Amino acid sequence: MAGISRPRGTDDLLPARVAARERAVAVGMEVAGRYGYQRIETPVFEATELFVRGVGDTTDVVNREMYTFTDRGGRSLTLRPEGTAPAVRAFWESDLRQAPLPVRLAYAGPMFRYDRPGRGRYRQFNQFGVEVLGDTEPELDAEVIALAWRWLAALGVAGTSLQLNSIGDGECRPAYRAALLDHFEPHLAQLPELDQARLRRNPLRILDSKELGSEELLATAPRTTDFLCSGCREAFDRVLQALQAYRIPFALNPRLVRGLDYYVRTTFEVWHEDLRGAQNSLFGGGRYDGLSELLGYPAAPGVGFAAGLERVVLLAPEAAGPQPPVVFLLAAQPAAAATVIVLAERLRERGHEVICDPGRRSLKAKMRGAERSGAALVVILGDAELAAGTATVRRLGDGHQAEVAADDLEQQLQVLVPNWN
Ligand code: HAM
Repeated sequence: MAGISRPRGTDDLLPARVAARERAVAVGMEVAGRYGYQRIETPVFEATELFVRGVGDTTDVVNREMYTFTDRGGRSLTLRPEGTAPAVRAFWESDLRQAPLPVRLAYAGPMFRYDRPGRGRYRQFNQFGVEVLGDTEPELDAEVIALAWRWLAALGVAGTSLQLNSIGDGECRPAYRAALLDHFEPHLAQLPELDQARLRRNPLRILDSKELGSEELLATAPRTTDFLCSGCREAFDRVLQALQAYRIPFALNPRLVRGLDYYVRTTFEVWHEDLRGAQNSLFGGGRYDGLSELLGYPAAPGVGFAAGLERVVLLAPEAAGPQPPVVFLLAAQPAAAATVIVLAERLRERGHEVICDPGRRSLKAKMRGAERSGAALVVILGDAELAAGTATVRRLGDGHQAEVAADDLEQQLQVLVPNWN
């Protein structure tokens, strides 16, 4: 077809997928609510600087994946690639900063990354996430993980594993970075170009590498957890103990550094066995105690996670939910058009889902439309029904037909389809 196609890496969601995503968000917000989290919404675009400073200018997200543009006022703006830096900005720019700490926030909405499109990987995708701001207690790290875990369970997602690590903080990271450099530098020339650049700019990034040619050296690389200072060690132990209390199984993964620069101490991802390669992560998160200062605000430690909703929905049998039965109302002759509209509106006011066809096409064409619509019931009104004050109701599943009083339509429909509410 010669028409204009949708941009690469985007998708048009048909009703079933929209419903599944909305349900995943609704269940997420409900679970988050049980832990005291409240929903916020931030703009879809932000000052570019927010992500350059927050996410970090050595990351793939900032270097290669941002949708950045100059608006008519000459400002550099970026379609948000993630929700954490915006949440911290919103915290400082709103009344939230006067609220009792910690502040517990939840959000859902579209994110944008100029990523290589693939299964479960889009350029516009949706995240559900939470952020806890203003508190350093390591038990909160376990709380956000527990919340995410319960959400996945409520959606029926199985086959997941929680990958957990601590990447230290400003105190212990310099020694770790030096050890990494010592490990790789003698073999620098053998490394792929991209990994050489990573080592020069931000050595921790190399642990993220998916480049062929680095695997062997990566497998023997020093582990973050062997370099933790006493503060980080103690915090990590407390996270592990809290996770045990929540009865959440985890796998320690000393290579999990995550793709964004703002993390300190705890980092985690949930992987799924069916999502392979670079897009196997269902959600990711961690602690980001220094992010607020990176953005130019006073200190506000935080921890949170975000999940890719497209990936979650792909794996969530419960997300689809049952479709409500629909009724299709049609006028068999033109004289019944107004009555059909009135009856349809009355049912809609009562909360029912009604498709209405009062138009002039033939009865045969309308019946075909009704059958194709997936409706559970067709209500037919023509000259004969108008004269008698009735409506003909046909159950599409088995063809059962009945003549009912038009005034009593709602109740009669309920009798015909018991789960019709
Ligand atoms: P992230 O790991 O960059 O973390 O993204 C979180 C999740 O978003 C991923 O695990 C994945 O499911 C989904 N995702 C990322 N890129 C794509 C894509 N191109 N297509 C589809 N899904 C994708 C963050 O964004 C952090 N803000 C998480 C966080 C919150 N950390 C602390 N608080």
